Amino acid sequence: MKIGILTAGGDCPGINAAIRSVGKTAILNYGMEVCGISDGFRGLLTKKITSINEEILSGLLTLGGTILGTSREKPFQKSDIDEHDKPQIIKENYKKLGFDALVIIGGNGTMKTAQLLQEEGINVVGIPKTIDNDVWGTDITFGFDTAFSIATDAIDRLHTTANSHNRIMIIEVMGHNAGWIALYSGIAGGGDAILIPELGYNENDLAEFLIERDKSNKKYSIVVVAEGLKLPESKKSPGRYFAKRIRTITGLETRETILGYVQRGGTPTPTDRVLATRYGSAAVDLLVEGNFGKMVALKNDKIVPIDLKEVAGKIKVVSKNHPLIKKSKGIGTFLGTK
Ligand code: F6P
Repeated sequence: MKIGILTAGGDCPGINAAIRSVGKTAILNYGMEVCGISDGFRGLLTKKITSINEEILSGLLTLGGTILGTSREKPFQKSDIDEHDKPQIIKENYKKLGFDALVIIGGNGTMKTAQLLQEEGINVVGIPKTIDNDVWGTDITFGFDTAFSIATDAIDRLHTTANSHNRIMIIEVMGHNAGWIALYSGIAGGGDAILIPELGYNENDLAEFLIERDKSNKKYSIVVVAEGLKLPESKKSPGRYFAKRIRTITGLETRETILGYVQRGGTPTPTDRVLATRYGSAAVDLLVEGNFGKMVALKNDKIVPIDLKEVAGKIKVVSKNHPLIKKSKGIGTFLGTK
C-alpha cells in the first residue's frame, strides 16, 4: 500500500508523535510506502509531498507542532474568488500520486473534510487531534492534556502574584466554542470562578460572588474564562471584557491574562504521547483491514473505529450535567450563576 499522511487545522502537541506512530507501524509492520503531504489539504492541491522513512520518523515523539506543516485550507468550501474545482483537483492528484489511502490528522472541520473526500471515492482514516477536545465521538483528543497542563501551570503562577497585590485575576484560555480547557484547568488550578460557553454567566452573580470573597478576607480571586464565551456585541476577548466589567461593578482591582498560543506549543505530555501513539497504530490497522471512512476514537479507554459520517458536522461540548460541574460547585467554585 502507498499511503499519505496529512495534518490539517490548528496544530497541537502530539501530532508528530501520531505521525511517527502511523509511519513506523506502516513501514515496520506492513512494509507500506509512506508519504507526508505538506500544509494540510493545500498539499493535496499542489502535490507537495515528501517520502517518509524511518530516519525522518526518528526523534519525533517529543517534538511539538507538525513536521508536515498545516493550514486551514477547506477544499469543499465555496469561494467567490477561487473558481478551481478543488475536490476534483484533489481526486486527480490522489490518483496521479498513486495513493491507496490517506491518514488525516485533524479536528472537527478536518474530519468533515475527510468524510467528504471519502464520499468522493478517496480512502481515508481520521485521527482526532485538538487542544479543544471538542471532536465528537471520542472521549478525548490528543493535545488537550498538554494544553490544559499549560493552562493549569499559568493559573498556578497567578495565585502568588494575585495574593501579593490583592487582585482579581482573570485568565482567558482557548477552547474555541467548548469549555473543556477552562473547566479542567480551572479545577486543576483552583480557579474560584470558571466561566464556560456551555453554562453561560450572570455578571451580577459573579460580582456578588467576588465581593463576598473579598469581604470574607479572601485576599484574591482567580476567574478562568473560556475564549468561546458569548459576550455583548462587538466585544471580542472575554478576558479583557471581564477584567473591565468586574472592576466597574465591584470596584475591586483586576488584571487579565490572555494565554493564547502557548497552549498549543511545545512538548506533548506523556499522556498525549501515549494517546497519539495508540491512535496512529490503530489507524494503520484500519487501513490494512480496508476499513475506510472511519475515525479512530477513545471510548472507555479502548480505541475503536467510528464512522466519519457520524462525526462530521458535530462538536462535543461540556454537557450541563457533566459530573465535574456538580463536583466543582460542591466545593464552592462559581460556575456562571449562583
Ligand atoms: O482549535 C484550536 C484553536 O487553538 C482554538 O482553541 C482557537 O480558537 C483557534 O484554534 C485559533 O485558531 P488560529 O490558529 O487559526 O488562530
